[in-house]
Amino acid sequence: MSKRILITGGSGFIGSRLVSQWLADGHQVSVYTRRPDAVRQRWPQLEQAASRFDDFHGPFDWLVNLAGEGIADQRWSEARKQVLRNSRIELTDTLAQWAINTGQRFEVVLSGSAIGIYGALEGTAEQQQVDEQSPYGSDFSANLCAEWEQAAAPLKPLTQRLVLLRTGVVLGPGGGMLKRLWLPFLLGLGGRIGSGEQYLSWIHMDDYLGAIDFLLHQPVEGAVNMTSPYAQTNAQFSRTLAATLKRPALLPVPGCPLKLALGEMSDLLLKGQKVQPVVLQQQGFEFHFPQLADALGDIRNHW
Ligand SMILES: NC(=O)c1ccc[n+]([C@@H]2O[C@H](COP(=O)([O-])OP(=O)(O)OC[C@H]3O[C@@H](n4cnc5c(N)ncnc54)[C@H](OP(=O)(O)O)[C@@H]3O)[C@@H](O)[C@H]2O)c1
Repeated sequence: MSKRILITGGSGFIGSRLVSQWLADGHQVSVYTRRPDAVRQRWPQLEQAASRFDDFHGPFDWLVNLAGEGIADQRWSEARKQVLRNSRIELTDTLAQWAINTGQRFEVVLSGSAIGIYGALEGTAEQQQVDEQSPYGSDFSANLCAEWEQAAAPLKPLTQRLVLLRTGVVLGPGGGMLKRLWLPFLLGLGGRIGSGEQYLSWIHMDDYLGAIDFLLHQPVEGAVNMTSPYAQTNAQFSRTLAATLKRPALLPVPGCPLKLALGEMSDLLLKGQKVQPVVLQQQGFEFHFPQLADALGDIRNHW
């Protein structure tokens, strides 16, 4: 059945795939974006594209809130941290206020968050292991995600179900983290970062999109870890990516200069989380690419 969908972040790496899929499935899609003209040009079949929530005319069945400035795009100066906060927390606040003021009622709301909520961890596999019940961290990323989730809480009374998407590193052709790694690894310049023992919790784009569809239809609520069940250490990840591209992974990147160059943001690379997607697994979601080698092989074939 055709649904009326409002999405923020619909022009991004993940959101654009959702919009294209939903349009192909015959849904009525509206996109909140800072660039409505460009978005309308890309998808002329959209119901609406606008840069102010007040310009949207409901009702909507599904609300999917993914907007956010790139967390790893620039060094975290105080000004940059504010941009990262505003694009998630303030935006979600404004969205919730609009929904309350205009009397919206949704079947389901999926709102963004990330696995950074568990904090940047290090140590043994056990020390880095987390699931949806684990405590929050206390660093910048963790606080950002916790406040992002909190900002979505006022939407809860307006929807039958509120799901918080604790997204891991999404792997797909042409975007996200792999876009930065592909060329150096293709040139044989890739290697582990720091000790290489920090875990990277990843998910293939197809499984991410499949999990979104699953969560839109299944009676799931609350926080959901959006990762493959098989997180890999950074050293394993580097070896697998190099092997996929048939290149050596000989050049380790030492931690100290990264800390100097990136400051606090180096935590994203030098520490990690070994995330278990307990909710998805308990609910019976089936991953097509649970194993990294298969996921990267598929992405290489579609790059
Ligand atoms: N990709 C990953 O591996 C990953 C991992 C963890 C969490 N996430 C989170 O998942 C969400 C989507 O990720 P993505 O990779 O698709 O991101 P992306 O490609 O960087 O796209 C970001 C989207 O957010 C919107 N946006 C950015 N800043 C905004 C602002 N100040 N005001 C309004 N909209 C803004 C952009 O819309 P316009 O430019 O059209 O306005 C764009 O559609 C993000 O919030 C990201 O933090 C992603």
